[in-house]
Amino acid sequence: MRIAVLGTGGVGQAIAGRLAELGHDVTVGTRDPEATRNRPEWQDAQVAVDSFANAAAAAELVVNAAGGTVTLDVLEQAGAANLDGKVLLDISNPLDFSGGFPPTLFVKDDDSLAETIQREHPGARVVKTLNTLTNALMIHPESLGEESTVFVSGDDPRAKETVVGLLEQLGHTDVIDLGDLSTARGVEMWLPLWLRIMGALGTPSFNLKIVREG
Ligand SMILES: NC(=O)c1ccc[n+]([C@@H]2O[C@H](COP(=O)([O-])OP(=O)(O)OC[C@H]3O[C@@H](n4cnc5c(N)ncnc54)[C@H](OP(=O)(O)O)[C@@H]3O)[C@@H](O)[C@H]2O)c1
Repeated sequence: MRIAVLGTGGVGQAIAGRLAELGHDVTVGTRDPEATRNRPEWQDAQVAVDSFANAAAAAELVVNAAGGTVTLDVLEQAGAANLDGKVLLDISNPLDFSGGFPPTLFVKDDDSLAETIQREHPGARVVKTLNTLTNALMIHPESLGEESTVFVSGDDPRAKETVVGLLEQLGHTDVIDLGDLSTARGVEMWLPLWLRIMGALGTPSFNLKIVREG
């Protein structure tokens, strides 16, 4: 699949690299492609690097791996027309670090960043997923040594099917479909507890495992 990964931080690097390894045609979107290509972590990456708009325009599926506070700006730069009709796999978290650590959520309870994105880009088919675990585990969940859980939220069932297919390729064997996009509120509100668990354990290498009876 032709995939645009918007974002060059740890998530963008992990997801873009792994999807390319899996045989997808990946272009990473960034503000300044030349400057990004010169960054050590991108010099040898086996992916194309382009502007947010060019990456999104050429893609069949777009991954939002931008920081929460800049996500709407990044998607505006990507261009509404370039997102129209496409699956938009949203990994962002609405974290506001302006007051230091721990960050606060700048949207919660009665709304989510995923729903905000959907309202701003009604033509995109937004699916929230993978925001609940650290990037190394997004692409290699098996490294935990036992099955753990990821979630999908979205209003478009076929878009969710496409995303679940990608999650399976990444090795996720327990994917819970939470329902419509308003269910993204719950997975985004997991972050304050995720951050505290990371602090207590001293590692980001853990994940939720939903244990059911029977
Ligand atoms: N880190 C994790 O393991 C993890 C896990 C789950 C979810 N998440 C979420 O995934 C998202 C990405 O996280 P990350 O740590 O990989 O990256 P990040 O540092 O939060 O974001 C990096 C991206 O933001 C862009 N950016 C920064 N300032 C900008 C501005 N003023 N205008 C436009 N774009 C700007 C950068 O653009 P350039 O490419 O031009 O520099 C870069 O592509 C976040 O929403 C985070 O909460 C992260």
